[in-house]
Order: sequence, then C-alpha cells, then structure tokens
Amino acid sequence: MNTRFPREILEQRLSVPFDYPVVFTRGLFHPEHPLLAEVVDREREGRRHRIQVCLDAGAAQAIPDLADRIARYASGWPQQIEIAGPVATLAGGEQAKSGLPAVQHILELLHARRLDRQSFVLAVGGGSLLDAVGFAASLVHRGLRVIRVPTTVEAQNDVGVGVKTGIDAFGVKNFLGTFAPPFAVLNDFDFLDALPLRDWISGIAEAFKVAAIKDRTFFDVLCDSAPRLAARDRRAMEGLVVRCARLHLDHIREGGDPFEMGTARPLDYGHWSSHQLEVMSDYAIKHGEAVAIGIALDAFVAQRLGFIARVDFDRLVAGLRACGLPVWDARLERRSADGSLAILEGLERFREHLGGPLTITLPAPIGGTRNVHSIDPAVLAEGIGHLKAVARTA
Ligand SMILES: NC(=O)c1ccc[n+]([C@@H]2O[C@H](COP(=O)([O-])OP(=O)(O)OC[C@H]3O[C@@H](n4cnc5c(N)ncnc54)[C@H](O)[C@@H]3O)[C@@H](O)[C@H]2O)c1
Ligand SMILES: [Zn+2]
Repeated sequence: MNTRFPREILEQRLSVPFDYPVVFTRGLFHPEHPLLAEVVDREREGRRHRIQVCLDAGAAQAIPDLADRIARYASGWPQQIEIAGPVATLAGGEQAKSGLPAVQHILELLHARRLDRQSFVLAVGGGSLLDAVGFAASLVHRGLRVIRVPTTVEAQNDVGVGVKTGIDAFGVKNFLGTFAPPFAVLNDFDFLDALPLRDWISGIAEAFKVAAIKDRTFFDVLCDSAPRLAARDRRAMEGLVVRCARLHLDHIREGGDPFEMGTARPLDYGHWSSHQLEVMSDYAIKHGEAVAIGIALDAFVAQRLGFIARVDFDRLVAGLRACGLPVWDARLERRSADGSLAILEGLERFREHLGGPLTITLPAPIGGTRNVHSIDPAVLAEGIGHLKAVARTA
C-alpha cells in the first residue's frame, strides 16, 4: 500500500437493457388501428399517458389532413392517450436540426406542455425532425419517452431504428447529440407515397451502404432491382426498407458497441466524405445523395487496395446510378488554400467525431469489412476523376 498516495477503488459496472419494437404497418392513424394505443400501453401500466405530437411540416404539407388525422386518432383512444396539447408542426429537412435555436424552440414547447418523464413525444417526420426532436426530448427530465414515426425512406430504414439523436452546430454536422433509444418505432409505408421523387431515391443510398459491408445477397438484390426502385415500385421499396432496417438493428444489437465507444463505426462507411460534402454544399446535397457519393468514393479506394473486385466496384456505381443517385459532385474537386482537396477536411472531422485514431471502414469483400487508418490523397484524387468521368456518361 502506497501511503503517500493511497488508493481505494470501488469497481462499478452497469448494464442497462434497452428494448423497443420496430413495427412496419400501413394506415397507422386510421381511427381503428390499435397499434399506437397498444404501444403507448406497452409497459402495461394501465393508465393514460400524456402525448405531445411533433409533426414534420414537409409531411404535413404533402398530406394536408395528417395533423387532423393524428389529433382525431389520439382523441379516439381516451383510455390510453391524453392529449398534452395541439399537434405541433415543426420545420422539416436539415433546417429542423440546424443549431441550438431549433432545439430551443422544441424545448420550449415540451416545457409548456408540462410533460412528465413518462409522457410521450410522438415524433412524426423525416430523419432530420427525428434527430432534432429526439435530441430535445432526451434532454428534458434527462429523457422523455419517444415514439418515432419515420416518414421518409431514410428515416424508416436507418435513422428511425437507431439509438442516436443529433443536431448540426458550429458548422459541423451532428456536432451535438445523444444516445437515446426510442420507446418504439412505428413505420407506416403509406407515408412513402407522399415523398417527392428526390427523397424517395435519396434514402436508397443507406441500403447500398449497409449491403456492401454486411450482406452480399442484399447487394445483388439492390443492383438487380435498381430500375424498379427508380420507377417507384412499392414492393421493391418495402423489401429494401425492412431489410435495411433489420441490418442496422442487427449491427447495433450484435456489433458489440451500441453506444459507439470504440474508434470504428462500420455503419458510417462512406460518411467521412458525405458529411463534409453536405456541409460544403450548405445542405443543398441531401444526406442520402452525399452517402451515395461517399460510398462510391470509398469503394474506389477499397478496390485500389484489393479489398473488393473491380467488377463489384463497377456494379456498385452502376447500381447507384440506375436508382437515380449521384456518384460525383463538382465540390469534390474544390481545393483548400494549401492546394489539398477540401474534402479531405472531412477525415479529421470524422476522426474527432469517433475519437482516437482515424478509422475508416471499407467493404472487403462485398458483404464484409476491413478498417484502414489513412486514405492516400492521390488515390482519392484518382477516384474523384474516375467518378467524374462515369457521371458524365449517359
Ligand atoms: N440519427 C441517426 O442515426 C441518423 C442516421 C442517418 C441519417 N441521419 C440524419 O437524417 C437526416 C436525413 O433524413 P431524411 O433523409 O429523412 O431527410 P429529411 O428529414 O431532411 O426530410 C427530407 C424532406 O422530406 C420532407 N418529408 C418528410 N416526410 C415526408 C413525407 N412523407 N412526404 C413528403 N415530404 C416529407 C421533410 O419535411 C423534408 O423537407 C440527415 O440529417 C442525417 O444526418 C441520422
Ligand atoms: Zn447516413
């Protein structure tokens, strides 16, 4: 025993189980659909719960009677649901999560509605709204119950099923955020019908992302069904959404690092450049579009390292393009004052976000992964040139 610097250690170890159902349905807010009322009473508490609905303005605009339908639904199940206040319609899109003022607004709303810690926030919207509302709700009383109702492809196949929230701040994408698993996730395929084509297509990129690193068969399915996906084939899309969501859920549950304490983040394959591209475009490029470019670029690097076959790289790029996704953007060629590619700043931002040494996950081969700790700028420049040439072909 060191008497000069005594040390008494009380070891502490906790593990907190989280469980939440992820349900796929249609007609969620039909007055007779019992799902939402059942989910609110999932803990069998046998009492009414206060619910505040936060609705994405973009979804509300595309589906004009949506706010009324939700309000009518809530008043039709009085034994389970107590309405905390009128449906709050909030800005959707990346604007929803742009900095602290957006969150302040949501916090004020949640404060005004006097929600207790077992009250619910029903977040109905795209990934941006889910991120912002989820973030705010995770701060109030250290975490309200959140039921997510994702309304975009991206939100149903990725954002909605995960355990993270986040907002953009200080010019950095997702600079602020929390780990806050939802109480339940209720996906209604009917919402996808209302999406503009660009948002329908944009969400497909995450499916290619996760397939390339987790599921070779799914990758083949995606490449084969690309023309149908681009033509808004509902069955093809529903299959994609469920399989993509399942792969995300499996990884979060079984990947051994649900709250991302390690330095690798496989589900962020392609995201070091996509996040940077989103910021460089002032969010004119949608998340999914940027992801398509990011995974194509990193797949080029993977192919150069011999991790994936050239034919698979070509199939990925062709598959993305056949869905209507971009694989290149002129901003990739921007140079910083020192002459280096401006996109490279994304590497350091990405490293900071994960912590520790830079770790980039690449497909190796398709359906599997390998981590690298640097990317050769010359290979990257070559990849950008290659994708530019591909993008210019019909
Ligand atoms: N937390 C996570 O784990 C995670 C994972 C992936 C992506 N994200 C984030 O998700 C965001 C992207 O989400 P997104 O792709 O859903 O886009 P989005 O939320 O920005 O929505 C796109 C547009 O669609 C509108 N909209 C929403 N539902 C609609 C509907 N049914 N019909 C018509 N319009 C509708 C919105 O108002 C918005 O204008 C990004 O900020 C990204 O960083 C978060
Ligand atoms: Zn993503």
